[in-house]
Amino acid sequence: MSSAVEFAKANGGRFVDELKDLLRIPSVSTAPEHVEDVRKAAEFVASGLRAAGLEGVRLIETSTEPSAAKQGRKGHPLVYAEWLHAEGKPTVLLYGHYDVQPAEPLDEWKSPPFEPTERDGNIYARGAVDDKGQMWMHVKALESLLKTEGKLPVNVRVIVEGEEEVGGEGIAAFVREHGDQLKADAALVSDTEMFAPELPTLCVGLRGMIYTELEVRGAATDLHSGMYGGAAPNPFVALAQIIAKLKDEDGHVSIPDFYDGIEEPTADELKAWKSLPFDEEHYRKTEVGSTELTGEPEFSVLERTWSRPTMDVHGMPGGFVGAGAKTVIPAKALAKISFRLVPGMKPEATFEKYKKYVESIVPKGVTAEVRMIHSGEPIVVSTDNEFIAAAKAAMGEVFGKETVFVRGGGSIPIVGDFVRELGIPTVMMGFGLPDDNLHAPNEKFHLANFHRGIESIILFLDKVGAA
Ligand code: BES
Ligand code: MN
Ligand code: MN
Repeated sequence: MSSAVEFAKANGGRFVDELKDLLRIPSVSTAPEHVEDVRKAAEFVASGLRAAGLEGVRLIETSTEPSAAKQGRKGHPLVYAEWLHAEGKPTVLLYGHYDVQPAEPLDEWKSPPFEPTERDGNIYARGAVDDKGQMWMHVKALESLLKTEGKLPVNVRVIVEGEEEVGGEGIAAFVREHGDQLKADAALVSDTEMFAPELPTLCVGLRGMIYTELEVRGAATDLHSGMYGGAAPNPFVALAQIIAKLKDEDGHVSIPDFYDGIEEPTADELKAWKSLPFDEEHYRKTEVGSTELTGEPEFSVLERTWSRPTMDVHGMPGGFVGAGAKTVIPAKALAKISFRLVPGMKPEATFEKYKKYVESIVPKGVTAEVRMIHSGEPIVVSTDNEFIAAAKAAMGEVFGKETVFVRGGGSIPIVGDFVRELGIPTVMMGFGLPDDNLHAPNEKFHLANFHRGIESIILFLDKVGAA
């Protein structure tokens, strides 16, 4: 065993305690009331990187995140660090995010979201696995190497963002404008999941997305529904009618030309997916918990979630939602609607098709406006490089099994920019589990995976340095 791995094992308890301190900071990037907490989390990460022995540690201000601009404040800062003394060795860019999704609904949590609690070998808290816990593995792997060997096997740059959960516009602008400051030979991202417990997994593709708001307006003001019901347009009914026309009963999106140009997975990829240990009934019962699965019947569940685009509605704010009853015809109605995109689809082009289609189906008496909140491109990474080989070997060694390749249905907007803007291969080595409840109540991180993750990252960096 390498001395760095021994160090990580001996200090594992402290690593978890530190992670708990980070998890106590409610760094919800979408919530204006948490701006200061988000910054506190950034400072915490910066201190952790300094203590680990990284150099040039600093916060980089961002300004482009649209909701930030609307609120008249700066974006959430990036955290940067480097260690560049491994002459002649490759440079690895380590990426993670310290922001988290909102914790609501709070009454569904068995222990409070920002009071990290250990139960059955798991740590429960918002951000435990997505992505504070996984980002902290990077920091602790670097610390373990630097404290035992006094150096790293490769050159390292670290970039940690605080706006991933709100679209990642700030880091995208930084990569576009100052890509030279992140110059590297490959990126390592730990923000994805393993396909099954104990099964080492590399994620090689992510869906892109456009996140939109659809606003429908009817009467000039809210109206008494008895006095005007029957004559005045109801924007919620109109909104429901529009939404009902976006997707048919078999899960096909009805927007004209929506599927144009989509790139199918290769035959090899599809074959590999078929051999993954996937039990649809088990998935339905334990992960989804519905009476049936829905979506395009001509595609498998893995295809439906990894390589097919979809539309989803996240919420419909507005009107009367308080306890009891209020007889009102609201003047306006809103829906938060997103589309997941797959390779071959462009966010802007998809948005234009959607907008045009909505405008063509607006019911009588109302107006509709669609707005883009944020977007990100889909990505499939190449697997034919020494960095993927090193990651496959490292993870396989730690878990004692052959590493599988999967795609993820989720989105990490900056990964597309690493590949397209920086032109570097990206390794997505994640340690989440299918039942970790990302974005949901009772998010957790399996502690054994936190420790095996640190070990895998140490081995990965060693292998990249030795090649
Ligand atoms: N870590 C997730 C993305 C993810 C999860 C990828 C599981 C693969 C498997 C990330 O934090 C996330 O949730 N991203 C958002 C992005 C969006 C807000 C732009 C998503 O996918 O909804
Ligand atoms: Mn994440
Ligand atoms: Mn997330």
